[in-house]
Amino acid sequence: MNLQNKLNHSIFRIVSNTANNANSEVYVIGGYVRDLILERNSKDIDFVVIGNGIELAESVVKQIHEVHKVSVFKNFGTAMIHYKDMQIEFVGARKESYHFDSRKPVVESGSLNDDQNRRDFTINAMAISLNQDTYGELSDPFQGLQDIENKLIRTPLDPEVTFSDDPLRMMRAIRFAAQLNFTIVPDTLKAITKNCERIRIISAERISEELNKIIMTEKPSNGFKLLDKTGLLALIFPQLVALKGIESVEGKAHKDNFYHTLEVLDRISEKTNNVWLRWAALLHDIAKPATKKFNAETGWTFHGHETKGARMVGQVFRQLKLPLNEKLRYVQKLVSLHLRPIALAENEVTDSALRRLLFEAGEDIEDLMTLCEADITSKDQQKVKRYLENFKNVREKLKETEEKDNLRNWQPPISGDEIMKAFNLKPCKEVGIIKSAIREAILEGNLLNDHLAAYEFMLDEGKKMGLTPW
Ligand code: CTP
Repeated sequence: MNLQNKLNHSIFRIVSNTANNANSEVYVIGGYVRDLILERNSKDIDFVVIGNGIELAESVVKQIHEVHKVSVFKNFGTAMIHYKDMQIEFVGARKESYHFDSRKPVVESGSLNDDQNRRDFTINAMAISLNQDTYGELSDPFQGLQDIENKLIRTPLDPEVTFSDDPLRMMRAIRFAAQLNFTIVPDTLKAITKNCERIRIISAERISEELNKIIMTEKPSNGFKLLDKTGLLALIFPQLVALKGIESVEGKAHKDNFYHTLEVLDRISEKTNNVWLRWAALLHDIAKPATKKFNAETGWTFHGHETKGARMVGQVFRQLKLPLNEKLRYVQKLVSLHLRPIALAENEVTDSALRRLLFEAGEDIEDLMTLCEADITSKDQQKVKRYLENFKNVREKLKETEEKDNLRNWQPPISGDEIMKAFNLKPCKEVGIIKSAIREAILEGNLLNDHLAAYEFMLDEGKKMGLTPW
Protein backbone atom coordinates (compact mmCIF):
# COMPACT_ATOMS: atom_id res chain seq x y z
CA MET A 1 0.00 0.00 0.00
CA ASN A 2 1.33 3.45 -0.87
CA LEU A 3 0.20 6.47 1.14
CA GLN A 4 2.24 9.08 -0.75
CA ASN A 5 -0.90 11.09 -1.61
CA LYS A 6 -1.76 11.47 2.06
CA LEU A 7 1.63 12.87 3.07
CA ASN A 8 0.55 16.48 2.61
CA HIS A 9 2.69 18.29 5.17
CA SER A 10 5.80 19.95 3.70
CA ILE A 11 8.04 18.40 6.38
CA PHE A 12 7.91 14.97 4.70
CA ARG A 13 9.76 15.99 1.52
CA ILE A 14 12.27 18.02 3.51
CA VAL A 15 13.06 15.09 5.80
CA SER A 16 13.15 12.67 2.89
CA ASN A 17 15.64 14.78 0.89
CA THR A 18 17.83 15.46 3.89
CA ALA A 19 18.01 11.78 4.79
CA ASN A 20 18.72 10.85 1.18
CA ASN A 21 21.64 13.31 1.03
CA ALA A 22 23.02 11.84 4.22
CA ASN A 23 22.55 8.33 2.91
CA SER A 24 20.32 7.31 5.80
CA GLU A 25 16.92 5.65 6.00
CA VAL A 26 13.93 7.38 7.61
CA TYR A 27 10.28 6.51 8.29
CA VAL A 28 7.19 8.16 9.75
CA ILE A 29 6.02 5.88 12.54
CA GLY A 30 3.45 5.34 15.28
CA GLY A 31 0.44 7.49 16.14
CA TYR A 32 0.73 9.77 13.10
CA VAL A 33 0.46 6.83 10.70
CA ARG A 34 -2.45 5.38 12.64
CA ASP A 35 -4.30 8.70 12.62
CA LEU A 36 -3.55 9.30 8.93
CA ILE A 37 -5.27 6.02 8.08
CA LEU A 38 -8.12 6.73 10.47
CA GLU A 39 -8.41 10.28 9.09
CA ARG A 40 -8.04 11.76 12.57
CA ASN A 41 -6.25 15.04 13.21
CA SER A 42 -2.80 14.71 14.65
CA LYS A 43 -0.44 17.26 16.19
CA ASP A 44 2.63 15.00 16.57
CA ILE A 45 4.83 13.44 13.93
CA ASP A 46 7.45 10.85 14.90
CA PHE A 47 10.33 10.03 12.56
CA VAL A 48 12.45 6.98 13.10
CA VAL A 49 15.92 7.01 11.58
CA ILE A 50 18.11 3.99 11.01
CA GLY A 51 21.07 5.69 12.61
CA ASN A 52 21.28 8.95 14.51
CA GLY A 53 18.00 10.86 15.05
CA ILE A 54 19.65 13.92 16.58
CA GLU A 55 22.01 14.42 13.62
CA LEU A 56 19.14 14.15 11.14
CA ALA A 57 17.08 16.69 13.10
CA GLU A 58 19.98 19.13 13.06
CA SER A 59 20.42 18.76 9.29
CA VAL A 60 16.65 19.14 8.72
CA VAL A 61 16.53 22.39 10.68
CA LYS A 62 19.22 23.86 8.42
CA GLN A 63 16.73 23.48 5.53
CA ILE A 64 13.89 25.30 7.31
CA HIS A 65 14.14 29.07 7.75
CA GLU A 66 11.30 29.32 10.29
CA VAL A 67 12.84 26.84 12.75
CA HIS A 68 16.03 27.54 14.64
CA LYS A 69 15.62 25.53 17.76
CA VAL A 70 16.17 21.80 18.18
CA SER A 71 15.48 20.41 21.66
CA VAL A 72 17.85 17.53 22.18
CA PHE A 73 17.30 14.79 24.76
CA LYS A 74 20.67 13.07 24.67
CA ASN A 75 19.77 10.34 27.17
CA PHE A 76 16.90 9.16 24.97
CA GLY A 77 18.69 9.84 21.67
CA THR A 78 15.79 12.04 20.53
CA ALA A 79 15.44 15.54 19.13
CA MET A 80 12.32 17.67 18.80
CA ILE A 81 11.31 20.67 16.72
CA HIS A 82 8.12 22.69 16.33
CA TYR A 83 7.17 23.44 12.75
CA LYS A 84 3.91 24.62 11.17
CA ASP A 85 1.68 23.68 14.11
CA MET A 86 3.32 20.29 14.53
CA GLN A 87 5.48 18.81 17.25
CA ILE A 88 8.03 16.75 15.36
CA GLU A 89 10.31 14.18 16.95
CA PHE A 90 13.33 12.36 15.52
CA VAL A 91 14.63 9.18 17.08
CA GLY A 92 17.13 6.54 16.11
CA ALA A 93 15.59 3.09 15.60
CA ARG A 94 16.19 0.97 18.66
CA LYS A 95 15.78 -2.27 20.47
CA GLU A 96 14.70 -1.95 24.04
CA SER A 97 14.60 -4.29 26.93
CA TYR A 98 13.35 -3.50 30.41
CA HIS A 99 14.14 -4.67 33.91
CA PHE A 100 11.20 -6.25 35.67
CA ASP A 101 10.72 -3.65 38.40
CA SER A 102 11.65 -0.51 36.56
CA ARG A 103 10.58 1.61 33.65
CA LYS A 104 14.20 2.37 32.75
CA PRO A 105 14.94 0.69 29.45
CA VAL A 106 18.31 -0.61 28.33
CA VAL A 107 18.53 0.95 24.87
CA GLU A 108 20.48 -0.40 21.92
CA SER A 109 20.27 0.82 18.33
CA GLY A 110 18.42 -1.47 15.96
CA SER A 111 16.63 -1.93 12.64
CA LEU A 112 13.20 -0.63 11.62
CA ASN A 113 11.87 -4.04 12.47
CA ASP A 114 13.37 -4.00 15.97
CA ASP A 115 11.75 -0.63 16.51
CA GLN A 116 8.36 -1.85 15.37
CA ASN A 117 8.63 -4.92 17.63
CA ARG A 118 9.02 -2.80 20.76
CA ARG A 119 5.87 -0.76 20.12
CA ASP A 120 2.64 -1.12 22.06
CA PHE A 121 -0.10 -2.06 19.58
CA THR A 122 -0.28 -3.29 16.01
CA ILE A 123 -2.11 -0.10 15.00
CA ASN A 124 0.77 1.95 16.48
CA ALA A 125 3.58 -0.10 14.92
CA MET A 126 3.04 0.88 11.28
CA ALA A 127 5.63 2.98 9.46
CA ILE A 128 5.67 4.86 6.14
CA SER A 129 8.90 4.98 4.17
CA LEU A 130 10.33 8.37 3.21
CA ASN A 131 13.21 6.83 1.27
CA GLN A 132 13.44 7.87 -2.39
CA ASP A 133 12.73 4.50 -4.04
CA THR A 134 9.92 3.44 -1.67
CA TYR A 135 8.47 6.86 -0.75
CA GLY A 136 4.99 6.50 0.79
CA GLU A 137 5.09 2.71 1.14
CA LEU A 138 3.48 1.29 4.27
CA SER A 139 5.49 -1.11 6.42
CA ASP A 140 3.00 -3.10 8.44
CA PRO A 141 4.60 -6.24 9.86
CA PHE A 142 1.78 -6.99 12.32
CA GLN A 143 -1.28 -6.35 10.13
CA GLY A 144 -2.14 -3.10 11.88
CA LEU A 145 -4.14 -2.02 8.84
CA GLN A 146 -6.35 -5.08 9.15
CA ASP A 147 -6.77 -4.42 12.88
CA ILE A 148 -7.86 -0.86 12.07
CA GLU A 149 -10.42 -2.22 9.63
CA ASN A 150 -11.68 -4.72 12.19
CA LYS A 151 -11.44 -2.15 14.99
CA LEU A 152 -9.12 -4.22 17.16
CA ILE A 153 -6.48 -3.40 19.78
CA ARG A 154 -3.78 -6.07 19.83
CA THR A 155 -0.14 -6.13 20.94
CA PRO A 156 2.46 -6.95 18.23
CA LEU A 157 4.28 -9.47 20.44
CA ASP A 158 3.12 -11.69 23.28
CA PRO A 159 1.05 -9.25 25.39
CA GLU A 160 2.83 -10.43 28.54
CA VAL A 161 6.08 -9.06 27.10
CA THR A 162 4.58 -5.82 25.78
CA PHE A 163 2.84 -5.02 29.09
CA SER A 164 5.78 -6.07 31.19
CA ASP A 165 8.00 -3.63 29.20
CA ASP A 166 5.72 -0.75 30.15
CA PRO A 167 2.65 -1.49 32.32
CA LEU A 168 1.10 1.89 31.43
CA ARG A 169 0.31 0.25 28.09
CA MET A 170 -2.50 -1.64 29.85
CA MET A 171 -4.22 1.70 30.38
CA ARG A 172 -3.28 2.85 26.89
CA ALA A 173 -5.01 -0.24 25.46
CA ILE A 174 -8.20 0.73 27.26
CA ARG A 175 -7.80 4.40 26.36
CA PHE A 176 -7.41 3.62 22.62
CA ALA A 177 -10.36 1.20 22.77
CA ALA A 178 -12.44 3.97 24.37
CA GLN A 179 -11.27 6.78 22.07
CA LEU A 180 -11.58 4.83 18.82
CA ASN A 181 -14.47 2.61 19.80
CA PHE A 182 -12.29 -0.49 19.19
CA THR A 183 -12.36 -3.88 20.92
CA ILE A 184 -9.36 -5.29 22.79
CA VAL A 185 -8.69 -8.83 21.50
CA PRO A 186 -9.26 -11.55 24.15
CA ASP A 187 -5.57 -12.49 24.59
CA THR A 188 -4.54 -8.91 25.13
CA LEU A 189 -7.45 -8.29 27.51
CA LYS A 190 -6.62 -11.44 29.47
CA ALA A 191 -3.01 -10.30 29.83
CA ILE A 192 -4.16 -6.95 31.23
CA THR A 193 -6.25 -8.70 33.89
CA LYS A 194 -3.40 -11.03 34.72
CA ASN A 195 -0.79 -8.27 34.99
CA CYS A 196 -2.94 -5.48 36.45
CA GLU A 197 -0.91 -5.34 39.69
CA ARG A 198 2.08 -4.13 37.65
CA ILE A 199 0.35 -0.76 37.24
CA ARG A 200 1.70 -0.01 40.75
CA ILE A 201 5.14 0.83 39.32
CA ILE A 202 3.68 3.60 37.16
CA SER A 203 3.63 7.19 38.41
CA ALA A 204 0.31 8.82 39.31
CA GLU A 205 0.94 11.60 36.75
CA ARG A 206 1.13 9.15 33.82
CA ILE A 207 -1.94 7.26 35.08
CA SER A 208 -3.96 10.48 35.36
CA GLU A 209 -3.00 11.54 31.88
CA GLU A 210 -4.59 8.35 30.54
CA LEU A 211 -7.58 8.69 32.89
CA ASN A 212 -8.20 12.22 31.60
CA LYS A 213 -8.10 10.95 28.02
CA ILE A 214 -10.68 8.29 28.91
CA ILE A 215 -12.83 10.90 30.65
CA MET A 216 -12.69 13.05 27.50
CA THR A 217 -14.01 10.31 25.17
CA GLU A 218 -17.50 10.47 23.75
CA LYS A 219 -18.87 7.76 26.05
CA PRO A 220 -16.45 7.51 28.98
CA SER A 221 -18.38 4.68 30.70
CA ASN A 222 -16.97 2.26 28.11
CA GLY A 223 -13.41 2.97 29.26
CA PHE A 224 -14.30 2.86 32.95
CA LYS A 225 -16.11 -0.47 32.57
CA LEU A 226 -12.97 -1.94 30.99
CA LEU A 227 -10.76 -0.48 33.73
CA ASP A 228 -13.08 -2.12 36.24
CA LYS A 229 -13.33 -5.46 34.47
CA THR A 230 -9.54 -5.83 34.22
CA GLY A 231 -8.95 -4.98 37.89
CA LEU A 232 -7.03 -1.78 37.09
CA LEU A 233 -9.67 0.54 38.51
CA ALA A 234 -9.52 -1.05 41.98
CA LEU A 235 -5.79 -0.36 42.03
CA ILE A 236 -5.70 3.18 40.69
CA PHE A 237 -9.02 4.54 41.96
CA PRO A 238 -10.49 2.31 44.70
CA GLN A 239 -12.98 4.98 45.83
CA LEU A 240 -14.85 4.56 42.56
CA VAL A 241 -15.03 0.78 42.86
CA ALA A 242 -16.43 1.19 46.39
CA LEU A 243 -19.56 2.70 44.80
CA LYS A 244 -20.40 -0.70 43.32
CA GLY A 245 -23.16 -2.95 44.57
CA ILE A 246 -26.75 -2.93 45.66
CA GLU A 247 -27.76 -3.65 49.22
CA SER A 248 -31.26 -4.63 50.17
CA VAL A 249 -32.85 -4.59 53.64
CA GLU A 250 -36.50 -5.44 54.32
CA GLY A 251 -37.13 -5.45 50.59
CA LYS A 252 -35.75 -1.94 50.18
CA ALA A 253 -32.76 -1.62 47.83
CA HIS A 254 -30.67 1.39 46.86
CA LYS A 255 -29.35 1.92 43.36
CA ASP A 256 -25.88 0.81 42.24
CA ASN A 257 -23.97 4.04 42.58
CA PHE A 258 -21.10 2.94 40.33
CA TYR A 259 -23.32 2.45 37.29
CA HIS A 260 -25.35 5.52 38.21
CA THR A 261 -22.13 7.58 38.31
CA LEU A 262 -21.04 6.27 34.91
CA GLU A 263 -24.44 7.14 33.49
CA VAL A 264 -24.16 10.68 34.86
CA LEU A 265 -20.67 10.94 33.35
CA ASP A 266 -21.96 9.83 29.94
CA ARG A 267 -24.90 12.22 30.15
CA ILE A 268 -22.76 15.20 31.06
CA SER A 269 -20.27 14.34 28.30
CA GLU A 270 -23.03 14.99 25.77
CA LYS A 271 -23.20 18.56 27.09
CA THR A 272 -19.64 19.61 27.91
CA ASN A 273 -16.00 19.21 26.99
CA ASN A 274 -14.87 20.76 30.25
CA VAL A 275 -12.76 17.98 31.75
CA TRP A 276 -13.24 19.31 35.31
CA LEU A 277 -17.01 19.36 34.98
CA ARG A 278 -16.75 15.74 33.84
CA TRP A 279 -14.59 15.05 36.93
CA ALA A 280 -17.32 16.60 39.10
CA ALA A 281 -19.80 14.16 37.55
CA LEU A 282 -17.45 11.25 38.26
CA LEU A 283 -17.02 12.32 41.88
CA HIS A 284 -20.43 13.73 42.77
CA ASP A 285 -21.53 10.68 44.80
CA ILE A 286 -18.07 9.52 45.88
CA ALA A 287 -18.96 9.67 49.60
CA LYS A 288 -22.14 7.61 49.32
CA PRO A 289 -20.51 4.40 50.63
CA ALA A 290 -19.06 6.28 53.61
CA THR A 291 -22.37 7.91 54.56
CA LYS A 292 -24.80 5.08 53.84
CA LYS A 293 -27.35 4.21 56.54
CA PHE A 294 -30.56 2.23 56.65
CA ASN A 295 -33.59 3.67 58.38
CA ALA A 296 -36.66 1.45 58.82
CA GLU A 297 -39.03 4.29 57.94
CA THR A 298 -37.25 6.25 55.24
CA GLY A 299 -35.11 3.47 53.73
CA TRP A 300 -31.54 4.14 52.61
CA THR A 301 -30.01 7.54 53.35
CA PHE A 302 -26.69 9.10 52.42
CA HIS A 303 -26.88 12.20 54.62
CA GLY A 304 -24.00 14.59 54.21
CA HIS A 305 -22.51 12.76 51.22
CA GLU A 306 -22.12 16.07 49.40
CA THR A 307 -20.02 17.66 52.18
CA LYS A 308 -17.95 14.56 52.89
CA GLY A 309 -17.71 14.09 49.12
CA ALA A 310 -16.11 17.51 48.69
CA ARG A 311 -13.46 16.51 51.25
CA MET A 312 -12.87 13.21 49.45
CA VAL A 313 -12.32 15.09 46.18
CA GLY A 314 -9.19 16.59 47.76
CA GLN A 315 -7.99 13.13 48.75
CA VAL A 316 -8.56 11.76 45.22
CA PHE A 317 -6.81 14.75 43.60
CA ARG A 318 -3.78 14.30 45.87
CA GLN A 319 -3.65 10.55 45.25
CA LEU A 320 -3.84 10.96 41.46
CA LYS A 321 -1.54 14.01 41.44
CA LEU A 322 -4.22 16.14 39.80
CA PRO A 323 -3.80 19.91 40.17
CA LEU A 324 -4.31 21.21 43.70
CA ASN A 325 -5.43 24.65 42.59
CA GLU A 326 -8.63 26.36 41.45
CA LYS A 327 -9.55 23.21 39.43
CA LEU A 328 -9.75 21.26 42.68
CA ARG A 329 -11.78 24.01 44.35
CA TYR A 330 -14.15 24.10 41.37
CA VAL A 331 -14.80 20.32 41.54
CA GLN A 332 -15.21 20.52 45.33
CA LYS A 333 -17.71 23.34 44.99
CA LEU A 334 -19.83 21.46 42.45
CA VAL A 335 -19.78 18.26 44.52
CA SER A 336 -20.75 20.11 47.70
CA LEU A 337 -23.63 21.94 45.98
CA HIS A 338 -24.92 19.15 43.73
CA LEU A 339 -28.09 18.49 45.74
CA ARG A 340 -29.17 22.10 46.05
CA PRO A 341 -30.86 22.62 42.67
CA ILE A 342 -32.68 19.29 43.10
CA ALA A 343 -34.09 20.53 46.41
CA LEU A 344 -35.21 23.69 44.62
CA ALA A 345 -36.83 21.70 41.82
CA GLU A 346 -38.73 19.52 44.27
CA ASN A 347 -40.09 22.21 46.55
CA GLU A 348 -41.68 25.61 46.26
CA VAL A 349 -38.81 27.89 45.28
CA THR A 350 -38.33 30.86 47.56
CA ASP A 351 -36.43 33.95 46.47
CA SER A 352 -34.05 33.63 49.37
CA ALA A 353 -33.16 30.02 48.42
CA LEU A 354 -32.44 31.18 44.87
CA ARG A 355 -30.33 34.07 46.12
CA ARG A 356 -28.35 31.76 48.43
CA LEU A 357 -27.62 29.32 45.61
CA LEU A 358 -26.51 32.13 43.29
CA PHE A 359 -24.33 33.54 46.03
CA GLU A 360 -22.66 30.19 46.78
CA ALA A 361 -22.26 28.90 43.22
CA GLY A 362 -21.16 32.28 41.83
CA GLU A 363 -19.99 32.08 38.24
CA ASP A 364 -20.25 28.25 38.26
CA ILE A 365 -24.04 28.24 38.52
CA GLU A 366 -24.55 27.13 34.88
CA ASP A 367 -22.13 24.22 35.33
CA LEU A 368 -23.89 23.23 38.55
CA MET A 369 -27.23 23.13 36.73
CA THR A 370 -25.65 21.03 33.94
CA LEU A 371 -24.37 18.57 36.56
CA CYS A 372 -27.77 18.34 38.26
CA GLU A 373 -29.59 17.74 35.00
CA ALA A 374 -27.16 14.94 34.16
CA ASP A 375 -27.76 13.47 37.63
CA ILE A 376 -31.39 12.58 36.84
CA THR A 377 -31.00 8.98 35.69
CA SER A 378 -34.26 7.29 36.67
CA LYS A 379 -35.58 4.45 34.48
CA ASP A 380 -38.97 6.14 34.70
CA GLN A 381 -38.86 8.46 31.67
CA GLN A 382 -41.90 10.41 32.89
CA LYS A 383 -40.06 11.19 36.10
CA VAL A 384 -36.94 12.31 34.20
CA LYS A 385 -39.07 14.56 32.03
CA ARG A 386 -40.82 16.07 35.03
CA TYR A 387 -37.51 16.84 36.78
CA LEU A 388 -35.99 18.37 33.66
CA GLU A 389 -39.08 20.59 33.29
CA ASN A 390 -38.68 21.69 36.90
CA PHE A 391 -35.02 22.45 36.29
CA LYS A 392 -35.96 24.64 33.36
CA ASN A 393 -38.17 26.51 35.76
CA VAL A 394 -35.35 26.83 38.30
CA ARG A 395 -32.98 28.09 35.59
CA GLU A 396 -35.49 30.78 34.59
CA LYS A 397 -36.02 31.88 38.17
CA LEU A 398 -32.28 31.97 38.75
CA LYS A 399 -31.97 34.22 35.74
CA GLU A 400 -34.66 36.58 37.03
CA THR A 401 -33.08 36.73 40.49
CA GLU A 402 -29.66 37.25 38.96
CA GLU A 403 -30.89 40.18 36.89
CA LYS A 404 -32.64 41.70 39.88
CA ASP A 405 -30.03 41.20 42.57
CA ASN A 406 -26.77 40.79 40.71
CA LEU A 407 -25.48 38.11 43.08
CA ARG A 408 -23.40 35.97 40.77
CA ASN A 409 -20.15 37.77 41.47
CA TRP A 410 -21.31 39.23 44.72
CA GLN A 411 -19.06 41.64 46.55
CA PRO A 412 -20.24 42.85 49.95
CA PRO A 413 -21.64 46.41 49.54
CA ILE A 414 -19.83 47.42 52.76
CA SER A 415 -16.24 46.36 53.35
CA GLY A 416 -14.66 45.45 56.68
CA ASP A 417 -12.57 48.64 56.45
CA GLU A 418 -15.66 50.76 56.14
CA ILE A 419 -17.20 49.13 59.22
CA MET A 420 -14.02 49.77 61.23
CA LYS A 421 -13.92 53.40 60.14
CA ALA A 422 -17.62 53.94 60.90
CA PHE A 423 -17.21 52.81 64.52
CA ASN A 424 -13.50 53.58 64.99
CA LEU A 425 -12.66 49.91 65.54
CA LYS A 426 -9.51 47.85 65.12
CA PRO A 427 -9.98 44.41 63.47
CA CYS A 428 -12.23 42.47 65.88
CA LYS A 429 -15.03 39.94 65.88
CA GLU A 430 -17.74 42.64 65.82
CA VAL A 431 -16.65 43.58 62.28
CA GLY A 432 -17.23 39.99 61.13
CA ILE A 433 -20.60 39.83 62.88
CA ILE A 434 -21.82 43.01 61.18
CA LYS A 435 -20.52 41.82 57.79
CA SER A 436 -22.39 38.52 58.00
CA ALA A 437 -25.54 40.27 59.27
CA ILE A 438 -25.47 42.44 56.12
CA ARG A 439 -24.96 39.40 53.87
CA GLU A 440 -27.73 37.41 55.58
CA ALA A 441 -30.19 40.34 55.34
CA ILE A 442 -29.47 40.69 51.60
CA LEU A 443 -29.81 36.95 50.97
CA GLU A 444 -33.05 36.80 52.97
CA GLY A 445 -34.41 39.68 50.90
CA ASN A 446 -34.69 42.05 53.87
CA LEU A 447 -32.11 44.47 52.53
CA LEU A 448 -31.37 45.90 49.10
CA ASN A 449 -28.01 44.92 47.62
CA ASP A 450 -26.80 48.53 47.50
CA HIS A 451 -24.32 50.68 49.37
CA LEU A 452 -26.59 53.32 50.88
CA ALA A 453 -29.17 50.86 52.22
CA ALA A 454 -26.41 48.63 53.59
CA TYR A 455 -24.69 51.59 55.30
CA GLU A 456 -27.87 52.49 57.19
CA PHE A 457 -28.34 48.84 58.14
CA MET A 458 -24.74 48.66 59.38
CA LEU A 459 -25.24 51.69 61.65
CA ASP A 460 -28.38 50.11 63.17
CA GLU A 461 -26.64 46.75 63.71
CA GLY A 462 -23.68 48.47 65.37
CA LYS A 463 -25.92 50.43 67.69
CA LYS A 464 -27.74 47.23 68.68
CA MET A 465 -24.34 45.84 69.71
CA GLY A 466 -23.60 48.88 71.82
CA LEU A 467 -21.19 50.52 69.34
CA THR A 468 -21.17 54.26 68.79
CA PRO A 469 -20.76 55.71 65.29
CA TRP A 470 -17.54 57.75 65.02
N1 CTP B 1 4.51 3.96 22.36
C1 CTP B 1 4.66 2.70 22.91
N2 CTP B 1 4.46 2.50 24.24
C2 CTP B 1 4.10 3.53 25.05
C3 CTP B 1 3.94 4.81 24.51
C4 CTP B 1 4.14 4.99 23.14
O1 CTP B 1 4.98 1.77 22.19
N3 CTP B 1 3.93 3.32 26.33
C5 CTP B 1 4.76 4.16 20.91
C6 CTP B 1 3.58 3.85 20.01
O2 CTP B 1 4.09 3.38 18.79
C7 CTP B 1 2.94 5.22 19.83
C8 CTP B 1 4.15 6.12 19.77
O3 CTP B 1 5.09 5.52 20.67
O4 CTP B 1 2.16 5.30 18.66
C9 CTP B 1 3.88 7.56 20.16
O5 CTP B 1 3.38 7.61 21.46
P1 CTP B 1 2.42 8.75 22.01
O6 CTP B 1 2.78 10.03 21.36
O7 CTP B 1 2.39 8.63 23.48
O8 CTP B 1 0.98 8.26 21.57
P2 CTP B 1 0.23 8.25 20.22
O9 CTP B 1 0.14 6.83 19.76
O10 CTP B 1 0.82 9.22 19.25
O11 CTP B 1 -1.23 8.68 20.63
P3 CTP B 1 -1.72 10.00 21.38
O12 CTP B 1 -1.06 11.14 20.73
O13 CTP B 1 -3.20 9.92 21.23
O14 CTP B 1 -1.30 9.80 22.83
